[in-house]
Amino acid sequence: MTNSSDLALQRPRSLKQRMGRLFGQWGVFFRGFLEHPKMVGSIIPSSRFTIEKMLAPVDWKNCQLFVEYGPGVGTFCFPVLERLPRDGALVVIDTNPLYIDYLRKTISDSRFHAVHGSAADVGEIVAALGFEQADYVLSGLPFSTLPDGVGPAIAEATHEVLRPGGAFLVYQFSARARDFMAKHFARIDQGFELLNVLPCKLFWGWKDKAA
Ligand SMILES: C[S@@+](CC[C@H](N)C(=O)[O-])C[C@H]1O[C@@H](n2cnc3c(N)ncnc32)[C@H](O)[C@@H]1O
Repeated sequence: MTNSSDLALQRPRSLKQRMGRLFGQWGVFFRGFLEHPKMVGSIIPSSRFTIEKMLAPVDWKNCQLFVEYGPGVGTFCFPVLERLPRDGALVVIDTNPLYIDYLRKTISDSRFHAVHGSAADVGEIVAALGFEQADYVLSGLPFSTLPDGVGPAIAEATHEVLRPGGAFLVYQFSARARDFMAKHFARIDQGFELLNVLPCKLFWGWKDKAA
């Protein structure tokens, strides 16, 4: 199931390469924040502790389509691609063209699709790529600072695109996202990650299997 050898996103090997990639990524991320502070909502990417905890409940064997909203510079993309089955797909959607350009240049895995657009249009975006439904949707969106109406629209579109039994995985500094999720997801599990700048709340909203 692990496809690390297939990944065209090259893992940097030496310390110098690793530091170069980290500061390159952080530089691009910070530039995006300076240009659109409310849309980005954070000055540095999520920690590896957040990534591990957030992805832990995913049933990777039964994941054909994983969607991510607001990938930024791809903090979650590599861990998701490592876990995703060989015939699976990862679709990432971001409103910031700087991030989408960066991701297209740095990740050339055939399972990876980077789309410039809004998470609110997830249904149309996945349909245009030939998919019917998503197994999991991950969100790093700053729900508290999104324009009015965008949060509720995204929660509704996400519930619609998920298969029954699939889940909406959300991490955020505040619990605002939960308010939007609660209207559609009857079961929402919660967690917390202290080792993140800033510490963040984690939510897993499960779509009813009978839906
Ligand atoms: C806090 S950053 C998350 C970065 C990354 N996922 C991480 O964990 O390090 C939020 C991201 O959401 C994107 N964004 C904001 N509104 C969006 C929307 N409506 N649809 C898709 N992406 C959006 C921003 O451009 C930014 O990349």
